Amino acid sequence: MTQHTILTADRPTGKLHIGHYLGSLKNRVKLQNSGDYKTFVMIADIQALTDNARNPEKVRKSLLEVALDYLAVGIDPEKTTILVQSQIPALNELTMYYLDLVSLARLERNPTVKSEIQQKKFGESVPAGFVVYPVSETADITAFKADTVPVGDDQEPMMEQAREIVRTFNNTYQQDVLVEPHGYFPPKGQGRLPGIDGNAKMSKSLNNAIYLSDTADELHAKVMQMYTDPNHVHVSDPGQIAGNTVFQYLDAFGDDQAKIAELKAQYQHGGLGDVKVKQYLEEVLSATLTPIRERRQEYAQDPGEVLRILEKGSQKANLVAEQTLQEVRNAIGLNYFQK
Ligand code: TRP
Repeated sequence: MTQHTILTADRPTGKLHIGHYLGSLKNRVKLQNSGDYKTFVMIADIQALTDNARNPEKVRKSLLEVALDYLAVGIDPEKTTILVQSQIPALNELTMYYLDLVSLARLERNPTVKSEIQQKKFGESVPAGFVVYPVSETADITAFKADTVPVGDDQEPMMEQAREIVRTFNNTYQQDVLVEPHGYFPPKGQGRLPGIDGNAKMSKSLNNAIYLSDTADELHAKVMQMYTDPNHVHVSDPGQIAGNTVFQYLDAFGDDQAKIAELKAQYQHGGLGDVKVKQYLEEVLSATLTPIRERRQEYAQDPGEVLRILEKGSQKANLVAEQTLQEVRNAIGLNYFQK
């Protein structure tokens, strides 16, 4: 039986929020604990620099925050290798070889990158490194021969691009060195969490996120200001469930289906106030977030220990990535001086 391997990553550009949790962290922990996978989790600082090269301090600071978020949600360094992208030199060399196997036109068609370029308003000044980051992401995945990549739905174009590069490589050099990766996505309809303002996307730049590191007070304040049905003015008014952020969060995080169905019916009928539903949501979110917050605070007391975890993980990861790099060099024929 072949062992399956997981690799996923996040860009360290800030703290992780509950959208990240639902979109992929939850799946990583689940797969890690299933025992069926060799698991690698990477802090993608090189990728973060593709649009923060002039602000490395942000990336540097966020590295520790993301590491704390990982440990807090239950990514266990005994079971998972946690590594830092910039500490794995082989990734850069792999990226260079893969860049020659993909056209610029194909990269410019990547829909995720395309919409990011628009969102970030780069225009003509988009850094070349940003446009080609899917190739570096392919290096991340293939260096560890990962076949399973737990990510949010928006990453499917990356998986497709990675599979194309893998197939091109194996065909061109006539060796099955690289492994085709597949995304592992959250259950249908459950991976996308709107922001607390009702915006379809939760993100730091929109200032509408609930962070894994938020205190109980911050959580309370954010839940109480959440977007509901703007036409639900009086408690006795019938309210809308569709597009109602509070109910979307309940669907995503609650596990008492019967109670949620009852609240929805009451809300639609009229006679249930927003504050009541929000109080229940706060309870539901606390059940998930309190243990995460507590574990995070514990690790945060010893940043030196967290850095040691990352250093050890990176050392372990280097051995694997170096091995793949040698196979890649051999496949291309760059082993001139080997006897
Ligand atoms: N692109 C991912 C993000 O948006 C981060 C990432 C970098 C990644 N390398 C990866 C994800 C490899 C999966 C596999 O955060």
